[in-house]
Amino acid sequence: MTVQAKLLELERRNALAEEGGGADRRERQHREGKLSARERIELLLDQGTFEEMDRLVTHRCADFGMDEQKILGDGFITGYGRIHGRIVFVSAQDFTVFGGSLSETNAAKIIKLMETAMRVGAPIIGLNDSGGARIQEGVVSLAGYADIFLRNVQASGVVPQISAIMGPCAGGAVYSPAITDFILMVDQTSYMFVTGPDVVKTVTHEEVTKDTLGGASTHNEISGVAHLMSRDDAECLAMIRELLTFLPQNNLEDPPRKPTEDPIDRADAELDTLIPDQPTQAYDSKLAIQHIVDDGYFFEIHERYARNVVVGFARMNGRPVGIVANQPSVLAGVLDINASDKAARFVRFCDAFNIPLITLEDVPGFLPGTQQEHGGIIRHGAKLLYAYAEATVPKLTVIMRKAYGGAYCVMSSKHLRTDLNLAWPTAEIAVMGAEAAVNIVYRREMEESVRQAQAVWPSGRAFTEKDKAKILADTRQEKVHEFRERFANPYVAAERGYVDAVIRPSETRLRLIRALEMLDTKREKNPPKKHGNIPL
Ligand code: HXC
Repeated sequence: MTVQAKLLELERRNALAEEGGGADRRERQHREGKLSARERIELLLDQGTFEEMDRLVTHRCADFGMDEQKILGDGFITGYGRIHGRIVFVSAQDFTVFGGSLSETNAAKIIKLMETAMRVGAPIIGLNDSGGARIQEGVVSLAGYADIFLRNVQASGVVPQISAIMGPCAGGAVYSPAITDFILMVDQTSYMFVTGPDVVKTVTHEEVTKDTLGGASTHNEISGVAHLMSRDDAECLAMIRELLTFLPQNNLEDPPRKPTEDPIDRADAELDTLIPDQPTQAYDSKLAIQHIVDDGYFFEIHERYARNVVVGFARMNGRPVGIVANQPSVLAGVLDINASDKAARFVRFCDAFNIPLITLEDVPGFLPGTQQEHGGIIRHGAKLLYAYAEATVPKLTVIMRKAYGGAYCVMSSKHLRTDLNLAWPTAEIAVMGAEAAVNIVYRREMEESVRQAQAVWPSGRAFTEKDKAKILADTRQEKVHEFRERFANPYVAAERGYVDAVIRPSETRLRLIRALEMLDTKREKNPPKKHGNIPL
């Protein structure tokens, strides 16, 4: 063969690899509002930076006439490129080739990619669109998945792992993403389920649509499996690019800084009036976040799930931070099972990747009741407590209003090695809210007030239930006032040093930025151990 012929042969093979499952299947992909695997990679990466690996790999299955159907690359496109100039490793499943299903050989491609990413310390991004284990390959394909899961676990906490769900994903195609740090889903075109509606019907006789079973809304709002939701493929890929701007390349690096024009001493007067006079009145803690962080820009994670707590990334004088804020406008900001899980996972991600944590606190406590107790709020709430206590990144807390009971301890209190605990003058730090506390502590006094009133009651008038209720209400109000004056403030905690400073809300940005600068060289370690035993 001449050199020219050899070059032509290479071109022919490359063209075949580009072709994937053919024009018809690609057309179906487009008709369904989905981009092809190669188009996705093009949009994700900085232009012209993609270097493909293993594009000539084929499967080795001879059963079911598979040896007649070999497609170069075998339906997985893998390689590396750059996002905002930094190296990332990416794999994209090509649904046009056996439904993006996993074969022995493309499992090997993914493993090679993951191991290289871990060696060089760069993020791993998976663009998923797959029917799961390739049915024709049987256990060999299952083994491929298990091999990938192992690498997912080994890479966890070493390099960021991001999964985009961009089509129907079933079986193993959902368990690998489930181990990764962030899952994004595209609305209307992506689904995640252990098994699809047909199998569900056979096994449980339940009729359910793909969307209800495992659509983007289901996983972003109900199950919490997904963290972000986009309108289409392009927006999903843009979100991944944006997310990466907050993350380091690996656990040994600090996150990248982004210069800002926003003055560090910007005193935001609106913060001074954010907290309503009425302690039971709601407000939106996302407003507090926006007023504090650089340019008011907050990249929220898990926006639709457990909205009583807010988590996400922002920057303070250019430095990425993770923010956890109770949300008084949803369920009064109470901590329930889902909110605890959501916040705990976020805290652990930030701690693993050197992202300082800022906690904005306004929490009336853990949600009481049988539903929560039977669901294991004790175990789930403990996750958040564990996560904060274990975290060694710079930790800063601002108590904006309520810090009641166990939630005071949990939400990055001083006692959990938090570096800076600030409180606004509106802070209320107490074992419980005044109303509930008064019913317990002053019950005798209130009963006594009724007895005394009855003793001196004018003889010509009957002492009715209404009179009794009024006296009780008046006494309760008085006691609530007394309790609030005594406990519902930040000063008892400040006297003890549990709160480092009570500040005007408008100073929050400056105080936090100064503390972050001071903590830049923070070094803290946990005792040596194999690993802890976080309640799961
Ligand atoms: C081989 C597959 C496949 C698979 C789909 N295809 N899934 N080929 N192995 N697992 C092929 C189809 O034969 C078809 O080929 C093409 O992909 C497109 O599939 P359609 O069914 O036409 O697409 P759609 O209607 O969009 O439905 C997509 C789907 C469905 C919901 C993913 O295909 C499906 O339910 N597949 C099986 C999913 C599943 O149960 N997987 C679990 C495997 S077990 P043609 O030639 O017609 O284009 C597993 C265990 C892992 O993964 C262990 C976890 C711990």
